[in-house]
Amino acid sequence: MTDALELLTTRRSFKAVELTGPAPSAAELDTLLTVASRVPDHGKLAPWRFIVFEGEARYAAGGAIAAAFAAKYPDAKPEHVDAERQRLARAPLVVAVVSRAAPHVKIPEWEQVLSAGAAAMNLVLAAHALGYAANWITEWYAYDRRVLDALGLAPRERIAGFIHIGKPPGKAEDRPRPPLSDIATRFSA
Ligand SMILES: Cc1cc2nc3c(=O)[nH]c(=O)nc-3n(C[C@H](O)[C@H](O)[C@H](O)COP(=O)(O)O)c2cc1C
Repeated sequence: MTDALELLTTRRSFKAVELTGPAPSAAELDTLLTVASRVPDHGKLAPWRFIVFEGEARYAAGGAIAAAFAAKYPDAKPEHVDAERQRLARAPLVVAVVSRAAPHVKIPEWEQVLSAGAAAMNLVLAAHALGYAANWITEWYAYDRRVLDALGLAPRERIAGFIHIGKPPGKAEDRPRPPLSDIATRFSA
């Protein structure tokens, strides 16, 4: 129990560019995705899925991001377009958590979206537990239809996050957290 609390209270994001190799092994990736899929899910709909970007595939996906950027900004300098190509190659592993939330007769869509957030958070925590660090980011391309099409997202699907995973550069400094007195109240009649 202490170990679990230690893990939860020491987790910190690092910038994607700070995350280095080696990438998680195939077995570790299985563990990461298994933990990510082990979340509360009203109606057992599995309203999320994962897309893994590793090795050269990160650059192929980056090509789609760069193409979308160039289409959006036709006057963009080549070096800026090229920087976009590196987007998913900053960390050795990136996992896109895709929300598949959709209208349902019984289960509110909102709850399906929350389940995708839980999957993303479990993935981040599992990475930490395995000795990696993570950064949960979306950035502009998570909202660009051209990019989403290229990554194979259906029209209703949305990116909950691109979870960047790699070895941390060192120990994490914490950032200020909201005081409990600001965010928690006790209900009294
Ligand atoms: C859904 C979601 C999307 C995010 N997208 C970005 C982003 O695009 N760029 C960014 O710098 N941070 C983004 N963040 C915040 C990072 O995850 C940030 O590093 C983190 O909140 C720091 O928190 P920590 O100190 O608890 O690790 C996002 C967070 C969430 C939950």
